[in-house]
Amino acid sequence: MFGLWRKHRVNTRAAVNGRYRHGNQHLIELRQVVKTYRSDAGDFMALKGIDLQVNAGEFVAIIGKSGSGKSTLINMVTGVDRPTSGEVLVGNTAVHTLSENQIAAWRGRNVGIVFQFFQLLPTMTALENVILPMAFCRMYHPHERRKRAMQLLEDMEMASHAHKLPSAMSGGQQQRIAIARALANDPPLIVADEPTGNLDTKTANAVFSLFERLVQQGKTMVIVTHDHTLAERVQRAITVVDGMVVEDVACAVNHGPAAEAEDVACAVNHGPVAEAEDVVCAV
Ligand SMILES: Nc1ncnc2c1ncn2[C@@H]1O[C@H](COP(=O)(O)OP(=O)(O)OP(=O)(O)O)[C@@H](O)[C@H]1O
Ligand SMILES: [Mg+2]
Repeated sequence: MFGLWRKHRVNTRAAVNGRYRHGNQHLIELRQVVKTYRSDAGDFMALKGIDLQVNAGEFVAIIGKSGSGKSTLINMVTGVDRPTSGEVLVGNTAVHTLSENQIAAWRGRNVGIVFQFFQLLPTMTALENVILPMAFCRMYHPHERRKRAMQLLEDMEMASHAHKLPSAMSGGQQQRIAIARALANDPPLIVADEPTGNLDTKTANAVFSLFERLVQQGKTMVIVTHDHTLAERVQRAITVVDGMVVEDVACAVNHGPAAEAEDVACAVNHGPVAEAEDVVCAV
């Protein structure tokens, strides 16, 4: 469970408009994004007009119950799926306007994706799966690719499994291969759907610490997570319910030497006219 974060009086608008953020530029902007799935059983609106901005350098968690629309939401950002209406802007790219080929080329260089169900290529070894995005995007010299992939596998403590096929690995091991693959082209944005869902607590912590280091290096991370302990460690938590963003909490965690462990300032974004308020965050 999330802990009860200490009450602070904070200026909500300042917190949301940059005080607790690294930059001022929106790296991701969703405008009135609607996603309707059509089937014989009828239409189902999975996203109901999402407006969302994420700045470069932010570490954001998307949380919400199963079926609330988290995967659908991040699939809009990565261009894995298209909105029925609305706009998806990432960096200078209007992702919703690109053709399939353009999306694949754009994504390969700009976004590292960790899929909820890994989606490793079953006929390729772990090493080949990690090399693939580099080869696809012609990133790094061909001689370098193998070395880089091995280093990424080592970072994930998976080097000894480099020559195994995904079918010969556990769910947690496949997840770590998928994370290594997402980092292959050193993308500025990493989007991960339950990246620690299949990992034991120790490995999940190690992976999360790696994500924190990536954010410190300037990457932007958007992760879907059910793990409230990990969600507590991010800068911002966005809650999705029934295809809508119902809460957007910015948190500035004080990790300074004199800080008490639970010294956390939070601001809840209730919209542009929100006023300063006392907030107890027990999400
Ligand atoms: N291809 C599809 N066709 C029809 N409905 C879909 C499709 N994909 C998702 N949905 C529906 O859209 C809703 C949101 O699904 P989504 O996968 O985004 O949920 P989620 O929050 O990621 O759930 P979980 O935590 O279980 O992964 C669900 O009700 C789901 O049944
Ligand atoms: Mg999902």
